[in-house]
Amino acid sequence: MRRLTVPAIQRRKGGEPIVMLTAYTARMAQLLDAHCDMLLVGDSLGQVIYGLPSTLSVTLDMMIAHGAAVVRGSYHAVVVIDMPFGSYEASPQAAFASAARVMAETGAAAVKLEGGEAMAETVAFLTRRGIPVVGHVGLTPQAVNALGGYGARGKSEAEQAKILADAKAIADAGAFALVVEGVVEPLAQAITAAVACPVIGIGASADCDGQVLVTEDMLGLFDRTARFVKKYDDMAGRISAAVETYADEVRSRAFPGSDQLYPAEVAKTQT
Ligand code: KIV
Ligand code: NA
Repeated sequence: MRRLTVPAIQRRKGGEPIVMLTAYTARMAQLLDAHCDMLLVGDSLGQVIYGLPSTLSVTLDMMIAHGAAVVRGSYHAVVVIDMPFGSYEASPQAAFASAARVMAETGAAAVKLEGGEAMAETVAFLTRRGIPVVGHVGLTPQAVNALGGYGARGKSEAEQAKILADAKAIADAGAFALVVEGVVEPLAQAITAAVACPVIGIGASADCDGQVLVTEDMLGLFDRTARFVKKYDDMAGRISAAVETYADEVRSRAFPGSDQLYPAEVAKTQT
């Protein structure tokens, strides 16, 4: 199975839904790769694996380290790496310098950045210089301080018009796909109908051109309870049960058993 390409993803507009999940490690990438069209090395790794309170203190070096691991662990999916807060907003030139490091040091196919009309020039600047970009509008977690929280967006007509204009600006600037997060469903449907690139929803609509979730959320491994998370497993519960059994067996000396031990070598002096 050859690795999918950015143009192959672009051609999926209005077609078979795009399957995307986050991955932060090589092992998780190996497990997800065959089932996914795209793997996102999300800056959600700040909360999910570093225990940070938001994505704001995630660094470019963190994204590059995890991005390279995910590229090494996959051979089929298009790997997209989030540009962390502070690495791209100041200017198109600053964004290019950061994104070029991500591309060169990880081998990923694309970067993703948050923002609407204010980021359109940057999206065009990167795209024209050979760096494919995924946009991200609606609930943009790096803007949590400006938005005042992680609630759904687009609840007023004015906000819907603003987010639709943001989506169009990013798509027109050349983004090859667009993540739409945490918006009222009619707005997600309107964006999907209005832009030429595939729209990948999270808390958006089944009518989007694809879906993305944080893998640890959908596996029931991270303790987040956003409405848009569907738990396909209870891995936290299963890990607790396994570790409880291990602890009991250590304390009762049932572990290690003979299968886990090296038997004494047969004496070589036998005659
Ligand atoms: O960081 C992330 O995981 C994301 C997805 C939720 C889209 O940006
Ligand atoms: Na993100």
